[in-house]
Amino acid sequence: MSVTGMLAASGVVLSGVEVRRARVGEVAAISAVALSHGIALDRDDLRSGVAACAADDRIGRHLVAMAHGSVVGHAMAVRNAATGFEHTAQLAVSVAPDHQRMGVGSALVGTLKAWAGGVGVRRLVAICDVENAAMRHLLARQGFVCEAPVMLAYRQDGEGVVHACAQFACILG
Ligand SMILES: CC(C)(COP(=O)(O)OP(=O)(O)OC[C@H]1O[C@@H](n2cnc3c(N)ncnc32)[C@H](O)[C@@H]1OP(=O)(O)O)[C@@H](O)C(=O)NCCC(=O)NCCS
Repeated sequence: MSVTGMLAASGVVLSGVEVRRARVGEVAAISAVALSHGIALDRDDLRSGVAACAADDRIGRHLVAMAHGSVVGHAMAVRNAATGFEHTAQLAVSVAPDHQRMGVGSALVGTLKAWAGGVGVRRLVAICDVENAAMRHLLARQGFVCEAPVMLAYRQDGEGVVHACAQFACILG
């Protein structure tokens, strides 16, 4: 799906970037995008997650944003039927620093919302650091509202810094 086409209605022009489903062979490139934000993904978990979503669309969706043949963004939404949250999916998104503020993150989240609506997910949630202005702004623009301003859960980054997290949710029609 072309990002240009998806965003045309909002007047944003973004050429040369394509959003599509992730492939197992792109796990290393996806990990590199996450690592550019200090997030070390477990590649085995990521590989099995991408494969599981490819095998059964109802489980979740991994997307990549591609520019000039390279992965410049990744987003995923996964639901956990095993624990009874079959109508909820949790999302995460990251965009390479040199491709931010071009609409890529919005296109990824918008595409996940379309997937979610198509497979019966009624509630998309996202958890992010309370100080993450970029993600908070993106989520608000995509129709998410803050459910828990500061959760009791915290995230500790690779340098040992503790970040308070907030939870956001988007109810799908
Ligand atoms: C959050 C993130 C995914 C946004 O991606 P992006 O491609 O830059 O987002 P977009 O270009 O679609 O911008 C979406 C909106 O957020 C705004 N925005 C983007 N970066 C911003 C920033 N640093 N501060 C304030 N607003 C920001 C944009 O202006 C845009 O607003 P608009 O629709 O009113 O014009 C990206 O900054 C990122 O990868 N951050 C690191 C990883 C991360 O924090 N992921 C979230 C954890 S779940």
